[in-house]
Amino acid sequence: MGRRPDWLEEAVFYEIYPQSFKDTDNDGIGNIRGITEKLSYIKELGCNAIWINPCFESPFGDAGYDVSDYYRVAPRYGSNEDLEQLFEEAHKTGIHILLDLVPGHTSWEHPWFKESQKAEKNEYTDRYIWTDSIWESPEGYASLRGISDRDGSCLVNFFTHQPALNYGFYKPDRLWQQSMDSEGARATREEIKNIMRFWLSKGCDGFRVDMAGSLVKNDEESRGTIALWQDIRGFLDKEFPEAVLISEWGEPDKSIEAGFHMDFLLHFGPSHYNDLFRCDDPFFGGKGDASEFVKKYLESCAKADNKGYICIPSGNHDMDRLAKYIKGDRAKMAFAFLLSMPGAPYIYYGDEIGMRYVEGLTSVEGGYNRTGSRSPMQWNSEKNAGFSGGDENSLYIPLDPDKDRPDVEKQLTDPGSLLNEVKKLISVRRSYRALMNSGEIKFVCDGEEGKPLIYIRSYDGERIIVALNPTDREYKMENTDVKELIYVLGDEPDMTDGKLLLKPGSAFFAII
Ligand code: GLC
Repeated sequence: MGRRPDWLEEAVFYEIYPQSFKDTDNDGIGNIRGITEKLSYIKELGCNAIWINPCFESPFGDAGYDVSDYYRVAPRYGSNEDLEQLFEEAHKTGIHILLDLVPGHTSWEHPWFKESQKAEKNEYTDRYIWTDSIWESPEGYASLRGISDRDGSCLVNFFTHQPALNYGFYKPDRLWQQSMDSEGARATREEIKNIMRFWLSKGCDGFRVDMAGSLVKNDEESRGTIALWQDIRGFLDKEFPEAVLISEWGEPDKSIEAGFHMDFLLHFGPSHYNDLFRCDDPFFGGKGDASEFVKKYLESCAKADNKGYICIPSGNHDMDRLAKYIKGDRAKMAFAFLLSMPGAPYIYYGDEIGMRYVEGLTSVEGGYNRTGSRSPMQWNSEKNAGFSGGDENSLYIPLDPDKDRPDVEKQLTDPGSLLNEVKKLISVRRSYRALMNSGEIKFVCDGEEGKPLIYIRSYDGERIIVALNPTDREYKMENTDVKELIYVLGDEPDMTDGKLLLKPGSAFFAII
């Protein structure tokens, strides 16, 4: 892997779902100019990097994860020029921008797929994965069948309308399964490089890569997909050495070897991430158990060998909102955790004000249960919560109907708000190297049921202890010689008579 750009060390990301962030042309849907307009908000929050969900041309059967032209911003979001201007304005304020790259599949409306469906051989015949007879389906995958004159079934990656692009098979064992070195697979790979080249030349800082681990098929150990990304990283190192990559993979031992700087812990996969935030008894709800999470986290760290970041998001466009499970002040402690762990933190838009999961919505653009986490950002108490000046019925997704829904304006003026706490936490994080992205971590108490989560972050001689006690029990900490408290949530720890008592529902960070 190439060098890790310096700015990543301090990076705190903000994820923007462009549909729902800010609408400047009153059509009820967010746009790129809306993001540009709100850069100062993101900057003041303390974030210095943004990941934008796909904003390219698409029939929007999966909210834009079904691309029909990788080289054009979807008109509903604006133009390529708007996006370039966003890069420029963001860079002026020290904010970096990652776009969302969807290399695994396209929309079935993509012109490549239209060509690929034709019976006559053409440039795009092998851009997707087809069996050589309509009567054979690719084993273990869903497929599209009987949709055109071409005799074959086409492998699908996600929804039915998202045919898989062809990067080859790790070990082809049927005639129609092409190798990773086949002409078709190589052409797809080169095209993905072209797309990256195109946006990087225009000023984006890198990509969040969708379903990054899924590209090469019949690749159980991911050896093929790892090799493929190493090749892509090689190309970036030559042409765009500063380009940053984060994967939606959820297996840092593989993704980091593949050349990604960072990987996410996700609501699926083996990480036990849900134990903390999203289950019947999440740890930050006060009654849960964090110990399996800690065990898996340490395993991942060992496998990733400190070569890349393991990033913990507050949520994302695919998960239920954090506020569905962690309510009120408890959310502050969840953020104290997110903002004191190694790796780059990712804040999903609106989580910083505790936006709710909106129940009972009809699916919008392939959102299904995810729709409730994608509702418009709540900026103020004016029309449409300040998200859009358009008609209420034109909004992309209805707003949270709660009359007490949180909003940015209210929270900015309330010193006790979640928003102000998140700001404070980001600023504390960015003041100490030990708390930043590559500071080491050592767990002192693993948050087993009824116990707090306590860990020491360190960097170059600086040592900071983080103690988070969402439980209703006091906890006596052993051998902790506190030099200076740098953050407290709830009651201060009792440090009289040489002891250290961590109060129920409280947290602190201290230099030791
Ligand atoms: C990823 C995206 C999700 C999308 C899917 C298919 O998981 O985060 O929103 O539906 O990939 O592209």
